[in-house]
Amino acid sequence: MTNSHEYRPLRIALLGAGSVGSQVARLLIEHKSELAARVGAELELVGIAVRDINSPRNAGVPRELLTLDAESLILGADIVIEVMGGIEPARTYILQALNSGSDVITANKALLATHGTELFDTAEQVGAQLYFEAAVAGAIPIIRPLRESLAGDKVNRIMGIVNGTTNFILDRMDSTGATFEDALAEATELGYAEADPTADIEAYDAAQKAAILASLAFHTEVPLESVYREGITKITAEQMAAAKRDGYVIKLLAICERVAADSAGLEGVSVRVHPALISREHPLGAVRGAFNAVFVEAEAAGSLMFYGAGAGGVQTASAVLGDLVSAAKRHVAGGPGLADSVHANLPVLPIDRVQTRYQITLEVTDQPGILAKIANVFSDHNVSIETVEQSVRVLAGIASKTATLEVGTHAATDASLSAVVKSLAANDAVESITSVIRVEGI
Ligand code: NDP
Ligand code: HSE
Repeated sequence: MTNSHEYRPLRIALLGAGSVGSQVARLLIEHKSELAARVGAELELVGIAVRDINSPRNAGVPRELLTLDAESLILGADIVIEVMGGIEPARTYILQALNSGSDVITANKALLATHGTELFDTAEQVGAQLYFEAAVAGAIPIIRPLRESLAGDKVNRIMGIVNGTTNFILDRMDSTGATFEDALAEATELGYAEADPTADIEAYDAAQKAAILASLAFHTEVPLESVYREGITKITAEQMAAAKRDGYVIKLLAICERVAADSAGLEGVSVRVHPALISREHPLGAVRGAFNAVFVEAEAAGSLMFYGAGAGGVQTASAVLGDLVSAAKRHVAGGPGLADSVHANLPVLPIDRVQTRYQITLEVTDQPGILAKIANVFSDHNVSIETVEQSVRVLAGIASKTATLEVGTHAATDASLSAVVKSLAANDAVESITSVIRVEGI
């Protein structure tokens, strides 16, 4: 190990100086000598590409390094850090950097989930490296464990809370009884939710992260379009209260799992993001506020849990700098770096093939024989009922003419479970279906 920085200074180009980029710049400058000692070469921040030089910026960003000319900056760099976000021009800049022989670090999950194959193929062809620890779950080290630590194991399932904004909203609904709208307003006021929160609340952000995690875990290309996605906008205060009463909490879960062969022998993987009931006793049930957590089940390692800040400028900058040290060390010491493999090439199956469990809440006519009628709908679709709870509302001493039934199922294919819901909706004993939600983690 060398402490004398015999290697020439490495030229670092930063693309973006927003929440993440400004913190990367600050930490790179503040910890310059410590980073140099760790790497064995100085890390010289040579420029920061932005959209508007005159925008007000964090004091840690040296104004003299700002430039509008990203392309020249890239061409003169050894390592390029892309924290601009968006698809273009980030994609073009990363390709330019890789093609000019630079290693690239990115936090851009939207880009990786849509153009990852192109970027990784380019990196491999030119012998460059693409690092992306910050792209999933911010500060939490999850990419490196999947790429390296678990590379000799077989990952069977990943279940994670990978979006802090939605976890904050659901947690507020759970702990205060707030409606979705009120909890979203609070998340916006506190700066967790963006002015346009669609990417978070409709689970696009979580789906991008799930696609990245699944492709690493299963060594398989996972197109974003193959990820089943349901957001949290329809979750009601009543569903939250019922979940709490039953010992559950509702979380937006990203679930990547292997799916056993069907009768035709087709096995594959499934990747889905949707709200689900999870026991309050489950480690993911205890994840509060805007925190993230990823629960990994591997054949030999067993269950592993990764927990921490899934977003935030400085937290995400930590993951970027970790990648930077790895990339810089590779420059100094040489070596091939990592190449992700999609050799397994498993089919990504639709959610229909997944085994899951539903909890369905119905308003039914309160008459003899109705329960049997409802039970028949489940058995017609080969779905086994695990629990049934019935209650009748009494208002001003008068019992309602309908009863509320809460039916929990055993595991069945999602296709059978959704067929049950369709049949129930068409059944004349059913006045309304007030809640349908999957149950996970059992
Ligand atoms: P910001 O919007 O705060 O910052 C974006 C920066 O990129 C700004 O400095 C902007 O310049 C610059 N920029 C945007 N477009 C261009 C362009 N065409 N040319 C040059 N510069 C450009 O984003 P964040 O820092 O929040 O996010 C950056 C990346 O990190 C994204 O991919 C995001 O998904 C990811 N990420 C963010 C997390 C977070 O907590 N914020 C967590 C995990 C990942 P200007 O300042 O002049 O407008
Ligand atoms: N919007 C994301 C979240 C942060 O709420 O988790 C960036 O990944």
